[in-house]
Amino acid sequence: MKQVKGTAPPHFFLNEIHLFSKVIYFRKTTISYGADLGKPKVYVTRQLFDDAIGILERHTEVEVFDGVDNAIPRDLLLSKVADVDGLLPLLTDTIDAEVMDAAGERLKVISNMAVGFNNIDLNAATKRGIYVTNTPGILTDTTADCAFALLMVTARRIAEADRHVRAGKWIHTWGPKMFIGSDIHGKTLGIIGLGRIGSAVAKRAKGFDMRVIYYDVHRRPDLENELGITYRPLDEVLSASDFVTLHIPLTEGTHHMIGEKELSTMKRRAFLINTSRGPVVDEGALYRALRDGVIAGAGLDVFEEEPINPVSPLLGLDNVVLTPHIASASVETRTKMAVTAAENLVSVLQGKEPPNLVNPDVRKVRPLKG
Ligand code: DGY
Repeated sequence: MKQVKGTAPPHFFLNEIHLFSKVIYFRKTTISYGADLGKPKVYVTRQLFDDAIGILERHTEVEVFDGVDNAIPRDLLLSKVADVDGLLPLLTDTIDAEVMDAAGERLKVISNMAVGFNNIDLNAATKRGIYVTNTPGILTDTTADCAFALLMVTARRIAEADRHVRAGKWIHTWGPKMFIGSDIHGKTLGIIGLGRIGSAVAKRAKGFDMRVIYYDVHRRPDLENELGITYRPLDEVLSASDFVTLHIPLTEGTHHMIGEKELSTMKRRAFLINTSRGPVVDEGALYRALRDGVIAGAGLDVFEEEPINPVSPLLGLDNVVLTPHIASASVETRTKMAVTAAENLVSVLQGKEPPNLVNPDVRKVRPLKG
């Protein structure tokens, strides 16, 4: 039906469209590309960018879950992976032994579209001869930009001030004590985890004339010299910093690494920034610390439960800025992540060493033939 600009279609028509799209949604959960009997079969758990699908389509018979923002339901995933040679999941999909067994012996590669791979049971994959890959390096600067943005927004109370203006509460004029926050320049930044992203955050901090100290299980004298930063034990980083930013992977050893004790070691005027993984922070302890003024504020992009529980008490606090796990969310970076995940996957299916293998022991179990 041709629609005249500015003229709304009648209501019955809109309702029909709505109903129709729902029917389509429930009937059709995947979209197929590159169907050809000779090609290996691949399943992708979310709608991706055309560049990535194009690579997969050239080399594989690929089916894609039709969700854009919604994760694939577990039972659908378990049925869709049957007999696939490759799986391209996201960090929101738990890929454990049950999924691998549902796929069966043909599954050779799980190519995660993320740098983190805590959603994949690596031991189970290695035992079954399944190559696991990730997308490192690509999202370093984009994530560091976001970590620094969160730091600034939190320190300068930007989100809170924006809410105030939109709510029509700016009824008086400029005020000397209105929304006063904390300076960033000249302050001490404590980086926990000096990997690629932690180092990129250090560079940004230097541009703001910050003193930078760091803690990592591996001391990095090369980076200390290059970036002009100083190593300190964890408790000293916590106690000496005005801002503490977390850049550590989620492992058994880092789960709740920042809890009540660590938060109470921080300065009362300090801020915590987390763009790594939610469970590295004990969220209950963090809530109490923010509520009771043990620390001044927090900027969080990641949570113990994602999406955040709608009754999370964090939602009621003004001294915390909350974003929905978007640290790597730029068009350029997300496209490159998807393309890299597609390339990793195709490499393994062609018998070639993938560029970003995270379980090298798998080579002993299923050597590549290429
Ligand atoms: C990753 O790739 O692990 C990030 O969390 C995605 O932003």
